Amino acid sequence: MQQTVLWTTDLPMYEVKTSVHVRIRDTVTTCQEAAQIMQAGGLVAFATETVYGLGASVLHEEALKKVFLVKGRPQDNPLITHVSQIDQVIQLASEVSDLARALMNRFWPGPLSILFPVRDDVSRIVTAGLDHVAIRMPNHPQALALIDALGAPIAAPSANQSGKPSPTLAHHVLDDLADKIDGVIDGGACDVGIESTVIELQGDHIIILRPGRISAEDLREFGAEVSLDPFLEHHEIPSKPRAPGQKYRHYAPQGQLTIYLGDDSQKIEERIAKEAQALAQQGFKVGALVMNSDFTPNVDALFYLGSLASFTELEKNLYVALRSCDDRHIDRILAQGTPEVGRYRAFMNRLYKAAGGNVITVS
Ligand code: TXA
Ligand code: MG
Repeated sequence: MQQTVLWTTDLPMYEVKTSVHVRIRDTVTTCQEAAQIMQAGGLVAFATETVYGLGASVLHEEALKKVFLVKGRPQDNPLITHVSQIDQVIQLASEVSDLARALMNRFWPGPLSILFPVRDDVSRIVTAGLDHVAIRMPNHPQALALIDALGAPIAAPSANQSGKPSPTLAHHVLDDLADKIDGVIDGGACDVGIESTVIELQGDHIIILRPGRISAEDLREFGAEVSLDPFLEHHEIPSKPRAPGQKYRHYAPQGQLTIYLGDDSQKIEERIAKEAQALAQQGFKVGALVMNSDFTPNVDALFYLGSLASFTELEKNLYVALRSCDDRHIDRILAQGTPEVGRYRAFMNRLYKAAGGNVITVS
């Protein structure tokens, strides 16, 4: 068993297993201690603006291999690398196009991962053998300080057990990975709440492989020609997707999730309330994810994700709600959906994945 350190600036407000070693430190000391552990091949989870990442030095092959083992991650699913300065990109990428440079200048630090042709001397464990490497600069002071302290880019998938919703709080990471990794830096709640947008560049053209907070609309406003990887439109699981992560069932809670779609929110609410009652009568523990704070169906766990008018709130609260449903052993989760268009695409992409195709249209 691995002794896991929890670095925090204050006493944690959540329950911590007795095996976890709590160290109260300022950020500078935390990052020095964590970087030392990572230089020696350790794994440290840290907050970014999107979700918590499970970090390994890109220079440490054994640490990179351990990331896959600890998460139970399929070997063919590559890792995103994280830099703290644009200059660091050339340590990983063999080529930086003008479009890539313009995107970095405009959107970094921020939730945009860009694929670059990978240099020969970068470990192929990071890229899962592919010829491109995904790079982003996270917009979180602790993440940037940790990369600086390490003096090398950090490879980091989301810091969850493979298949579970990504962690957006330090205790989510501990729930999944305590006693398996060297440490967790508590950086508070992640602002964005869902993973970064992943894009591929083909000449002047941007292809979105995974939707995120930086939307197709944002990239078009910036002046680029943008399209979505075709499978994003169809929710089919491709056998050979360009972002291998897309073929795995992700973000899934333990309970079965059903999405309710339709033009009339009131009708959706009536349907959810009715369904919740029927399921409760059958003995199921029921949860509901709603977008109207006045709608209070009689369920075991009720989550107001935010107003339908605010995709940022919906994104921020989704994984917290899904993980709380798991904590409360909820069997059936009923969730209101939105049309999968515009800036709601990222939220709905994650909700669809959590639902594994269970969608009911209310008319
Ligand atoms: O916001 C995020 O991106 C978070 C934080 C920690 O930065 N990281 C994250 O990593 O979500 P992960 O491993 O959970 O998801 C990475 C996604 C996967 O779908 C993977 O297939 C894709 O990015 N990806 C990474 N490298 C790639 C590559 N070289 N080519 C194609 N897809 C790649
Ligand atoms: Mg992940």
